[in-house]
Amino acid sequence: MAIIELREVTYKYPATEKPALEDIKLSVEQGEFLAIVGSNEAGKSTLCYTISGFVPHFFHGELGGDVQVAGLDLKEAKLNEWVLNVGLVFQNPFNQISGSKFTVFEEIAFGLENLGVNRSEMIERVEHAMERTGISDLADRSPYSLSGGQQQKVALTSILVMEPKVFVLDEPTSQLDPIGAREVFQVIKEMSQAGITVVMAEHKIEWVAEFADRVIALNAGQIILEGTPQEVLTSPTLPENGIGSSRYTQVAKQAREEGLYPEDGLLPISLDQAVAGFSGGNYAD
Ligand SMILES: Nc1ncnc2c1ncn2[C@@H]1O[C@H](COP(=O)(O)OP(=O)(O)O)[C@@H](O)[C@H]1O
Ligand SMILES: [Mg+2]
Repeated sequence: MAIIELREVTYKYPATEKPALEDIKLSVEQGEFLAIVGSNEAGKSTLCYTISGFVPHFFHGELGGDVQVAGLDLKEAKLNEWVLNVGLVFQNPFNQISGSKFTVFEEIAFGLENLGVNRSEMIERVEHAMERTGISDLADRSPYSLSGGQQQKVALTSILVMEPKVFVLDEPTSQLDPIGAREVFQVIKEMSQAGITVVMAEHKIEWVAEFADRVIALNAGQIILEGTPQEVLTSPTLPENGIGSSRYTQVAKQAREEGLYPEDGLLPISLDQAVAGFSGGNYAD
């Protein structure tokens, strides 16, 4: 049984006519790293909210179909039950900050405090989580004195420390520079390798290519593509729906049109695959 199972899921925000999600069918296995791509307003955030219970329990509106995560049914469960299994890192880290804590350390400890975790375990878990995301030096800072990128790392750490079974991330590196983004993706990848299920909305195609096990592409609230990163990210359907492609895919596509790249097989999504393709080798990974 998959850890995430969505069947015929349709959702409308309150007082709207057009569904933000339409007939979504999705199963995710435990430990899988699933990326969601799509242009603006495609429904990426809404799907993240649905898996993490904020739709419908926080946003309300009309939810149809079935959503099951970690053995619970979304319509029957309460949000406070649901969030023990599923952690959401919001796209805007500002939405994650509790507003009631004076230091980053306390901010990250907040969720554990609410669960009544004892003090020594709490300190150990918070320190460990901060080390993993490389923010130990921010411990005594005010959450409000941080840059957007630092806030994003704090938001990630405050969910990481809860050790959820399913980790949902909505464009978790939007405020970070490429070095910071790589650090964050590395932490997420390690979690996935440790058996945690990761669902990540991300529009930066090259990161998705490097880190995801499987990709779905959304357009107007519907899944339009589903498959391996190489299958989905090289599909001509992507640019037709306003979704970018990686520079490796673009260069190889152009080269193929000019007879400089092998005719058969999928286009590359990474430098290694592109190099192998250009040198005539087998570039399947
Ligand atoms: N709180 C909201 N209330 C009403 N409509 C919303 C709300 N949030 C998003 N939408 C609508 O839902 C659709 C999907 O949006 P969203 O999930 O934010 O897409 P994405 O994250 O891919 O940019 C869009 O048409 C958007 O306008
Ligand atoms: Mg979004």
